[in-house]
Parts: sequence; structure tokens; C-alpha cells
Amino acid sequence: MRVVLLGSGNVATHLAKALQKAGHEIVDVWSRRVEHASRLANAVGGVPITDIRKVTTGADLYIIAVKDDTIAELASQLHLQNELIVHTSGSIHINVLETASTVYGVFYPLQTFSKNREVNFKDVTLCVEGCTPEVTAKLLSLASQLSGKVVELNSEKRMAIHVAAVFACNFTNFMYALSQKLLADQNLDFELIRPLILETAAKVQELMPVEAQTGPALRKDAITIKEHRDFLKNQPNLLRLYEELTKEIVNFYKPL
Ligand SMILES: NC(=O)c1ccc[n+]([C@@H]2O[C@H](COP(=O)([O-])OP(=O)(O)OC[C@H]3O[C@@H](n4cnc5c(N)ncnc54)[C@H](OP(=O)(O)O)[C@@H]3O)[C@@H](O)[C@H]2O)c1
Repeated sequence: MRVVLLGSGNVATHLAKALQKAGHEIVDVWSRRVEHASRLANAVGGVPITDIRKVTTGADLYIIAVKDDTIAELASQLHLQNELIVHTSGSIHINVLETASTVYGVFYPLQTFSKNREVNFKDVTLCVEGCTPEVTAKLLSLASQLSGKVVELNSEKRMAIHVAAVFACNFTNFMYALSQKLLADQNLDFELIRPLILETAAKVQELMPVEAQTGPALRKDAITIKEHRDFLKNQPNLLRLYEELTKEIVNFYKPL
């Protein structure tokens, strides 16, 4: 396939590399900032472009991988005919693309991507949705070339998955960041806690998370919880989070 990438960030970079590896050709990389378009085009081929009117017409696939809030605006500037166009967002409805082409869909990779970290794309769950069963079949076929984990999901289910992913990944990682700061404030090395983080993630490969919970809130260790609250008394944001999460855990595990 001849592919036009609209976006040059984390997802565009990983998707472009996976498509290239599967034998597809990147013909254009459009991005708002020329240096970003050029960086990705240098890595995967294609012409770096910042003027949307100069994007190649008649390619086989157009992939919008930009910030969610700008997908609609970008789509409204594209006037394709019967060329296939997809976006890669977890939460934006498929219909956002209905004015851009008669053939549209969603190609959402359910993984966390950072540009400079390698990901084995074969293990990335790809969630696809097409505007017709034929388009869905085409996207399923393309997705199967890139990954061994492919699923068809409508926009409502994809939204649910994305919210779940925000809890499981984005919020969890933010907890790691808070814990990094707590340790740094005491001149303690983040390395100390890395094995705990690894085991927490490893455990839920075998147990369900509801069974894997540990800690003072689960045990209702009131003295420890009070000590922790005292420790955090000068950090109101952390204290608020600690109290809120502790309350949620206690309520979640309350006997019926
Ligand atoms: N990161 C993930 O783990 C992940 C996973 C699954 C799906 N997604 C989805 O993939 C899409 C891209 O996410 P990402 O993480 O790759 O984003 P990203 O790395 O932050 O890159 C954002 C892209 O959006 C462009 N952009 C930002 N503001 C813009 C604006 N006002 N107008 C036009 N373009 C703008 C940037 O262009 P310039 O750099 O040229 O400014 C860049 O190409 C999103 O829909 C996201 O929900 C992300």
C-alpha cells in the first residue's frame, strides 16, 4: 500500500515503522512542524509536508495520528474521493471522518508508545472499525499483517477500552512518577522500587487485579494509614490523592 501519514508523533512513528516492515511504502509525512515531518520522513521515507493541500492524492491509505482534539479539524481539510482514511484515537468516534472520504475507519493501537522506545508491534492489540463491513474486512486484513492481536470494535466499545487504558496505564504511570518524586525528596534511588513495579505488573498476568491487591487500605491497618497521612501532611495534593484512593480501596473491598 502507498501510505500517507498525517502526524509525526509517537503513534505515527511506530505505525510507520511497522507498515514499512510489512512492505508498505510511506509516500508523505504531513505534520504541523516541518522539523517533525522531516525527522519521521528521514526515518521511514516519504516527502515531509506541512501544507495539507500538497498531500499526495490517490494514495491507498491515509492515517491521521495527531492530538485527539485536532482530528476533526484536520479531517475537514481533506477532500478525498474513495481513498481509505483512518484515525488512531481510542476515544474519537469513527464519524469524524465521514466528510473526508467515502471510505473511512479507525485503526487504534491499544498500547503505550513513546517515540524513542522500541515496541514489538506483533504484540500490540489493534482495534479496528470500518464504515462498512467491506472496509472493516480490509482493516482487519491490514492489521493482521502488523500484529497477531487484532479485534473489531465499534466506537462505543473502543471508548470503554480507552477509559480502562487510562486507568491501567496513564494513571498507574503517574503514580510511578509521584513515587519517583517522593523517593527523590528523600535522596532515595528509584531503582529500589523498580522490582516492586515489575512484580505488580507481572502478578496480574496470572491473577486478576481484584485478587492481587495488597497494602494497608486492603488490610484496614488504621495506625499505618494515620502515619502515612502524617508523613504527607505538608504535601496537600499527595495527601488528597492518598486519602481518596485509600477510601476507594476500603469501600471496594467492604464485605457485603
Ligand atoms: N501515545 C500513545 O501511546 C497512543 C496510543 C494509542 C493511540 N494514540 C492516539 O494516537 C494519536 C496520536 O497520539 P501520539 O501520542 O502519537 O501524539 P504525539 O506524540 O503527542 O504527537 C502529536 C501529533 O499531533 C500533532 N499536533 C499537535 N497539535 C496539533 C495541532 N494543533 N494541529 C495539528 N497537529 C497537531 C503534532 O504535530 P507537530 O509535532 O508537528 O506539532 C504531532 O504530529 C492520538 O489520537 C492518540 O489518542 C496514542
